[in-house]
Amino acid sequence: MGPVIEAQGLSYEYPDGTTAIRNVDTTVERGERVAVVGANGSGKSTLQLALGGLIDPSTGSVRYFGETTDAEAVRERLGVLLQDPDDYLFNATVREDIEYGPAQLGVPRDVAERRVDRLADQLGLLDLLDRPPFRLSGGEKQRAAVASVFAFDPNVLLLDEPFGAVDPQYRERILDLVTDHEGTFLLFTPSLDMVPEVAERVILVGQNGSIVADRSVREVLTDSSLLVENGLRPPAPVEMFEGVLDRDELPLTVSEARRYLLKREQ
Ligand SMILES: Nc1ncnc2c1ncn2[C@@H]1O[C@H](COP(=O)(O)OP(=O)(O)OP(=O)(O)O)[C@@H](O)[C@H]1O
Ligand SMILES: [Mg+2]
Repeated sequence: MGPVIEAQGLSYEYPDGTTAIRNVDTTVERGERVAVVGANGSGKSTLQLALGGLIDPSTGSVRYFGETTDAEAVRERLGVLLQDPDDYLFNATVREDIEYGPAQLGVPRDVAERRVDRLADQLGLLDLLDRPPFRLSGGEKQRAAVASVFAFDPNVLLLDEPFGAVDPQYRERILDLVTDHEGTFLLFTPSLDMVPEVAERVILVGQNGSIVADRSVREVLTDSSLLVENGLRPPAPVEMFEGVLDRDELPLTVSEARRYLLKREQ
């Protein structure tokens, strides 16, 4: 075990003076599944960039794998999916975009091709591989960007809203990729619906860019007033059963709510 990411006193101020994250201290252990949630503009994407070593923090530092504060030294172990898929897709074809990461890392060509074919199949991209990425729909672009991150088989995933534009069928496929991933992951999202399916720990970023809670999924997702104060809303099953069930019995997902109702009917 041991920490994968240790952030200390992390702040980031954009050149125009906007302070996006403030004094963030957090440690993510190997194998942890963490959701970083917060309202629009709370600083999730900026925190992702800082934790992924893609921006230099204004204050503080990030240590990786207990080894180094130089993200470039561990770049091939960090799978950073940025919020905007256009930031990934810059090659002539979708296939080249997905092959880019493995090629950079010197993965043998036949291994890389097998990975690309498997990911393309899983994410419904087989018929799109020879197209230029700018000729894809929004959801297709997002699936291609997800494929390009998984293609180099990173150890730690930092995924910024991977489900956003994706339809329910492919949301399930991405969910499978994420839950099958054996390493550590951080999911950055303003929507709480997928959180209980993928994470065990939730870091809630407040509207001024500092961490206001860092607890279990159940503790955060059933605390409606905390969520509302911070510009979020509990998942629908929690809202539905709040006041009906005790807090520690509230269903977090639709399938938990169904199970509860079916059991009650018996
Ligand atoms: N390039 C930039 N220059 C100046 N300010 C920025 C820039 N990018 C983001 N910001 C500001 O920094 C703050 C945090 O933005 P960030 O993108 O990290 O939020 P977020 O939590 O990811 O939001 P969303 O849910 O909309 O993706 C916001 O106030 C935003 O307006
Ligand atoms: Mg964002």
